[in-house]
Amino acid sequence: MTLQHDGERRPTIRTERLLLNAFAMSDCPSVAALAGDRRIYEMTLLIPHPYEPRHAEEWIGTHAAQWGRWREDWSFNFAIRSTRGDLMGAIGLVGRPAHKRAEMGYWLGAPFWGYGFMTEAARAVVGLAHRELGINRLEAGVFEGNTASMNVLRKAGFHEEGVLRQRFLKDGKFVDERMFARIALPRVG
Ligand SMILES: CC(C)(COP(=O)(O)OP(=O)(O)OC[C@H]1O[C@@H](n2cnc3c(N)ncnc32)[C@H](O)[C@@H]1OP(=O)(O)O)[C@@H](O)C(=O)NCCC(=O)NCCS
Repeated sequence: MTLQHDGERRPTIRTERLLLNAFAMSDCPSVAALAGDRRIYEMTLLIPHPYEPRHAEEWIGTHAAQWGRWREDWSFNFAIRSTRGDLMGAIGLVGRPAHKRAEMGYWLGAPFWGYGFMTEAARAVVGLAHRELGINRLEAGVFEGNTASMNVLRKAGFHEEGVLRQRFLKDGKFVDERMFARIALPRVG
């Protein structure tokens, strides 16, 4: 992974097949089209359904302030793009710097599922979190049954810590959450 910064000092990460960088307002139609898939809504907590362009505008509108303090707050959202720049999905952190930890969340547009893209994106954000930001504990909660997401986390070096039973009420049904975490390796020397 290669970390660089854009003209506004926001991070840009290049991996073998992906480009992770900031969202732009011009991404709104693609965000609405990709995140509007009901299967994404079903596995996440904060994505509305139906997903309209105004939802994307509101969401991306919050990003400038996040990028202004990303090194202090550890809270930000990356666009996941092909190396050509086409939008594929999103991955982000919500930080709790006082405890040197952050929660990771992500979604990928359905046309791109099953090619290892989210594993690649998650590994890149893990590297940024531990090595560049000094985050000790990364965590992620997954709805029971979301095998693909659990596999992404395991492949990115997370370990399962347990089940938080009936943690969320989603569309009138209680959903269990499985908690995963990854602790930074202690520095040697
Ligand atoms: C979860 C999600 C991000 C996975 O993205 P992806 O790029 O398809 O994942 P990967 O291709 O990196 O797959 C990781 C592993 O899971 C496996 N996997 C992928 N889809 C799977 C499925 N439907 N069922 C079981 N395993 C699956 C892959 O085979 C891979 O393991 P392998 O390399 O050993 O074969 C994507 O499905 C998604 O956006 N889902 C809806 C939103 C969501 O669930 N967000 C996360 C909330 S916690």
